Amino acid sequence: MGLKPPAPAALGVLLVLALLALAHLLPPPDRSPHPLPASSPPGSRQEGAAPLSRGRAHGKRLPVPPTHLRRGQPHGRGRRRRRGVAGDIPPWLSDDDLQKMRLLAEGQVVSKTRVPAHGQVLRVGLRAVGDPERDASPASPEGDCQDGRCGLIKRPGDLYEVLAFHLDRVLGLNRSLPAVARRFTSRLLPYSYTDGSLRPIIWWEPDLRHLEDANNDQNSCALGWLQYQEMLRPHGLTPAARDAPCSSIPHGEWSRLALFDFLLQVHDRLDRYCCGFQPDPSEPCMEEMLHEKCRNPSELVLVHILVRRSAPSRLVFIDNAGRPQHPEEKLNFRLLQGIASFPAAAVATLRSGRLRNLLLESLRVDRELWESQGGGEGLGPFLRTIEKRASILLRYIQERNLTVFEEPPR
Ligand SMILES: *[C@@H]1O[C@H](CO)[C@@H](O)[C@H](O)[C@H]1NC(C)=O
Ligand SMILES: *[C@@H]1O[C@H](CO)[C@@H](O)[C@H](O)[C@H]1NC(C)=O
Repeated sequence: MGLKPPAPAALGVLLVLALLALAHLLPPPDRSPHPLPASSPPGSRQEGAAPLSRGRAHGKRLPVPPTHLRRGQPHGRGRRRRRGVAGDIPPWLSDDDLQKMRLLAEGQVVSKTRVPAHGQVLRVGLRAVGDPERDASPASPEGDCQDGRCGLIKRPGDLYEVLAFHLDRVLGLNRSLPAVARRFTSRLLPYSYTDGSLRPIIWWEPDLRHLEDANNDQNSCALGWLQYQEMLRPHGLTPAARDAPCSSIPHGEWSRLALFDFLLQVHDRLDRYCCGFQPDPSEPCMEEMLHEKCRNPSELVLVHILVRRSAPSRLVFIDNAGRPQHPEEKLNFRLLQGIASFPAAAVATLRSGRLRNLLLESLRVDRELWESQGGGEGLGPFLRTIEKRASILLRYIQERNLTVFEEPPR
């Protein structure tokens, strides 16, 4: 009766076997489905931080019908079709958006270029399904990019930029560049890009105007905080202000930017010094000693203020991942400073009580993102954060008797 106690040697073998079995049961760390990681501003070290929500259904396949953006399905997709199995593509995504999203989601990677001074970003040339040149090597990566056939692959931690794109379109702002989530397999890419993690890829806009100044090439015009505030004043633009850089950009553009940045808590553009809230010591603005400059407003500058060469009176929003984790008690109201009027359509959408459903409808189009996050349920915390900030913004507008403006006719 009973088992004989195993000899020490046999025990050792058993232990090794048990450990091996365990190692097989656990997924290798870099292969596990990535939750939507916390956003981290470019250059920060907190890549892939805590997931947005606890208890997300990783890898759970939801009964989501395929959409236009589904990959690996070369037949049966029409360029002109706006109706997928999933139903209508929401009207706020234009045909041009869809075409670019499809290029980003399905395009074959044909070239890659490092982006100088942005080690974490890779620019890739893409060939669309059905492009006669699809299997040809690119004449030149530069040529592809000038033709609008490139994307920027960012870090897994920047996935919120895809959500930001949908928010932009749902609100009718139309200032950010198309973005999708994608897993890459191309052998052209370094291993860390093909390890199964989901990354955002943003359409690369060839027409951005950059300043010649190598220290300030992330702007189309150089603008200080004080100049900016001066420019926002309703009346009495002084002659100097009229000729100031960025003065071709009308008020409505800054209103859009402020609304968008407040909802996402993007501080980089308007307040990269974190003057509008008390930052933790680990914030890049603290580590880079930027926060100290808040004492001297004349030293504060805006960053990522970009326009197209072909449309200098319209802002282009880039790097929009923002800070979904930013606490509600520390919301940065400085982002709204000087803005007296907000775009009527966007405010109406925020008021409508339908923001969440509209966002869900939009995000569902990005199947990779949708499934990886566990669908609408997994996206819940993000949506709640945006809804909460929206209601705080609406109260802010109401308490200050701020107005809304209709879009000028196009
Ligand atoms: C959205 O922006 C793009 C790029 O500036 C422009 O071509 C397009 O006409 C805009 N769409 C709407 C509906 O304003
Ligand atoms: C907003 O308008 C109300 C009613 O006209 C007025 O009582 C209040 O003082 C105004 N608030 C501000 C901040 O101007």
